[in-house]
Amino acid sequence: MSLLIRNGRVITAVDDYHADIFVEDETVTLIGRDLDVEADRTIDAAGRLVIPGGVDPHTHMDMPFGGTTSADDFETGTRAAAFGGTTTIVDFAIQTKGHSTLEGLETWHEKAAGKAGIDYGFHMIVTDMEDDRLWEMRRLADEGVTSYKMFMAYPGVLYVDDGTLFRAMRKAGEDGTLVCMHAENGIVIDEIVKIALAEGKTSPKYHALTRPTRMEAEGVHRSIAIAEVAGVPVYIVHLSCADALEQVTLARARGAQVFAETCPQYLFLDLSRYDHEDFEGAKYVMTPPLREKWNQDHLWRGLGFGDLQSISTDHCPFCFHDQKVLGIDDFSKIPNGAPGVENRMSLVYNGGVVGGRLSVNKFVELTATAAAKLFGLFPKKGTIAVGSDADIVVFNPDRRETISANNPHTHHMRVDYNTYEGTEVQGVSEIVISRGRVVVEDNIWHGRAGGGNFLKRGLFGGPF
Ligand code: URP
Ligand code: ZN
Ligand code: ZN
Repeated sequence: MSLLIRNGRVITAVDDYHADIFVEDETVTLIGRDLDVEADRTIDAAGRLVIPGGVDPHTHMDMPFGGTTSADDFETGTRAAAFGGTTTIVDFAIQTKGHSTLEGLETWHEKAAGKAGIDYGFHMIVTDMEDDRLWEMRRLADEGVTSYKMFMAYPGVLYVDDGTLFRAMRKAGEDGTLVCMHAENGIVIDEIVKIALAEGKTSPKYHALTRPTRMEAEGVHRSIAIAEVAGVPVYIVHLSCADALEQVTLARARGAQVFAETCPQYLFLDLSRYDHEDFEGAKYVMTPPLREKWNQDHLWRGLGFGDLQSISTDHCPFCFHDQKVLGIDDFSKIPNGAPGVENRMSLVYNGGVVGGRLSVNKFVELTATAAAKLFGLFPKKGTIAVGSDADIVVFNPDRRETISANNPHTHHMRVDYNTYEGTEVQGVSEIVISRGRVVVEDNIWHGRAGGGNFLKRGLFGGPF
């Protein structure tokens, strides 16, 4: 099977030129002007950007959390991702406390196999790591799971103490892997939550008011310090505020191997979303919470100047009507997380490129290339080059859509609300190609459950 994409404007993290792209089976084999080749199918991309498929390094499909399970499984979640122009996700497998991480990996393989419609990898969430289990980490790396996530938040659930953090970090460093950190001081936050509840403050806005930015910054500072001593590169996930970014900037300035992502929710939404008197604010109960609006300028600066390398979604959807309501009388029982995997590319293009904050190359870098590099997938994923997987998006930079759970062009996620309801965006993924197969065209799904492959990722490739 061969495919020719003609007349497009090819954009990578560093290139911007008009050319034809020839794909044979799953791989890009030729790029050039007016290619003289026969193909089984030709796509005319005149007037369109031709960009690498998005890489979202932070999703939670089919994840048990907060007394329920995230609403998208690997079938519905990866299909929605593809509609939005994302062709690779890295999701989080979870070690059950007291059990082997390898068992956790097996469970997540069972969840994804035969369901994922695009390629996927796994990080491993480590919930305990005694000395006699450390050998498993090398095995995970051999299995292509070359990054971990550890939590300073959620005591009694996913939280690990600093000793566990250090032990696992040291081994991860020895193995050449990367540690992702949920950096928030969950012990102090839980005390603040107890005080709020005792004072009868139970509505969703108190989720945000009990998680001060200082406690995120403290977690970022502490996890970086521990990682430096342990000798491992660290990647701060879902960084939400200026206070936390300052810690990343300081650490990078002194040469520490620190990387960080933010997410569209922190770039486009703010604390005022919790203002509703009714339960509406529960839609935005995520961790870290939305922050005061002025933080957004700092996050854009971090993206523009390179202290933040990537934009992920932290897609973790819970239905408003039958899942978020678990916390109707107590904000601390609202399942934490929000949907977003489908809308990331359009939101970032609109807010970044159309908004004059990012070049089109930087847009590609932040939504695909950097994550592919950091997580051992480059140059197979995250770029358009001869030899790369043909994960390609034909992107219309002029088309507008209004994001809504009721708009069939912007919402395929299996959840009853959209975090960005009513946001008008310019820039839409029109044709989405996953390893040489058109999986989305004319807003119709042409892929199949099980069409996505598990990606064995490489070791951490060093600073770049
Ligand atoms: O609220 C969030 N972020 N839910 C998903 C779990 C996590 O901490 O990433
Ligand atoms: Zn987290
Ligand atoms: Zn997450």
